[in-house]
Amino acid sequence: MPPPSTSALGVRPADFRFRCIGCGDLTDSASQDFRCMKCTDLLEITYHCWKETKPDAETLKAMWRNRRLSSSPVDLSGVWRFRELLPSLDDARLVVTLREGNTPLYELAHCARITGVPRLFAKHQGLNPTGSFKDCGMTVAATFARRAGFRWVACASTGNTSASMAAYAARGGMRSLVLVPEGQISWSKLSQALDYGAVTCQLRTDFDGCLRLLQELVQRAPVYQLNSINPFRLEGQKTIALELLEQLDWHPPDHIIVPGGNLGNSSAIGKALLEMRDIGLISRLPRLSVIQAEGANALVRTLREAHGQRLISVQAETRATAIRIGSPASWKKAAHVLDATGGACEQVSEVEIAQAKAEIGVEGIGCEPASAVTLAGLKKLVKQEFVKPDESVVLILTGNLLKDPDYTIEFHRGELFKGSAEESASAALESLRRAPVVLDATLDAVMRTLEQAEKS
Ligand code: F0G
Repeated sequence: MPPPSTSALGVRPADFRFRCIGCGDLTDSASQDFRCMKCTDLLEITYHCWKETKPDAETLKAMWRNRRLSSSPVDLSGVWRFRELLPSLDDARLVVTLREGNTPLYELAHCARITGVPRLFAKHQGLNPTGSFKDCGMTVAATFARRAGFRWVACASTGNTSASMAAYAARGGMRSLVLVPEGQISWSKLSQALDYGAVTCQLRTDFDGCLRLLQELVQRAPVYQLNSINPFRLEGQKTIALELLEQLDWHPPDHIIVPGGNLGNSSAIGKALLEMRDIGLISRLPRLSVIQAEGANALVRTLREAHGQRLISVQAETRATAIRIGSPASWKKAAHVLDATGGACEQVSEVEIAQAKAEIGVEGIGCEPASAVTLAGLKKLVKQEFVKPDESVVLILTGNLLKDPDYTIEFHRGELFKGSAEESASAALESLRRAPVVLDATLDAVMRTLEQAEKS
């Protein structure tokens, strides 16, 4: 028999407050839009109790390890297992969980050879219950929505947030409203939201337009917003970094590389790294770098052209639809953690993304295009000597291959860049393509195909 839950034992979960990232104002409650009442900047969650009694690093490590043997849902969750660094919850029965987190850390031997970085790993967040990292944040935010008694939750999304939110709302007995840009999200993601019972609105606008509308909606209707503006989401996503460090036996890698869209995830992972350092769980900070698609490069431009002082919005365009975002809401939080960890911000082209995705695929690891920007970005960072060959690197793969099968099929059939400006540049990717062949159902035909493949 596995031991019972450790939820009633050990260190007390953290008491928290909301702090404005702009003016620093501290409050015990947040308004519907999760913005500061004084200066309208975003809020983050802080743990004032750590000032008096910092959690003991060794006690935490041992407790988190032991929980793996427990049979209770909160301990089996790869998020709630780390609850001492999450907002406190009086009643563990309120937790809405699908056993999120617990994602593998893979060595990438093939990509290591390509990049010349032997110690290269991928943390595959696409193996979460709904196929993306969003589940790690959603379990916490959906739980707090339920605790606050909301009947409705809502989000704007490029697809993964909506899939995740719909699932967690359903599990938590809440209804969900999804706002997605019409024709700009993959069918796989849309189908998830539908199946999990969301009321789904395909709006004739882009993601940024959907998010703007949601901000107005939450002021008018008793609907709890579950975008990453919601700081509970980011607290849950912190556990991606906690679990990663645990998998590395608390030896920090030199670099962690994440894709950047609305910039919630990079902010969350950065916050986790800073907190881990402050508590003494790690002794030095990895550099956290963010990679964007060239066509959705708001943070790249904000840092290069405005030195991080004001957001430069862009009209976003990329086939990596998950990160097709022009006005990232959490840009200030992300700029802060890049600065605090000494990370870089880079952009990669559509052809570079497609190539990187296929190269990750060759390892037997499937991710969606938005995740592949990490490998494409790493190649650039190696060229710039920002990443040295003897350093260790972890790529955060944010979504599963099956999230966007159309992209993969178009790539292998050679249709992805047909008629586009990248068509000639993409010719270089021919050797990575594996188009399906249609044959007569004869042994001869299959044997010939096998022989040809053996020669190529
Ligand atoms: N990768 C994937 C697969 C995503 O779905 C997203 C964001 C990101 C990376 C970027 O993360 O926004 O925290 O910087 N998807 C959101 C959505 C916006 O609605 O599903 P971020």
